[in-house]
Amino acid sequence: MIKCHCAEVYFDQILEEVRLSQRPVLEVAQTMGAAETCTACVKDMLQYIQDHLEEFTLVGNSAHQPSAF
Ligand code: FES
Repeated sequence: MIKCHCAEVYFDQILEEVRLSQRPVLEVAQTMGAAETCTACVKDMLQYIQDHLEEFTLVGNSAHQPSAF
């Protein structure tokens, strides 16, 4: 599964928003209308985003430190 079929939201779209906002995956997904109807996508979505966020952080672009601003 590569998207939430109920909401027609691709995991890539959720991943991008998680990267930008640094908010929890399920919170982001639900604000996009995903992962809250049949919930069949949740397991695959969490795995997909975890795998791709690890790739992202491994290239040294981790923005998990709190900002002073
Ligand atoms: S496939 Fe995502 S909520 Fe149904």
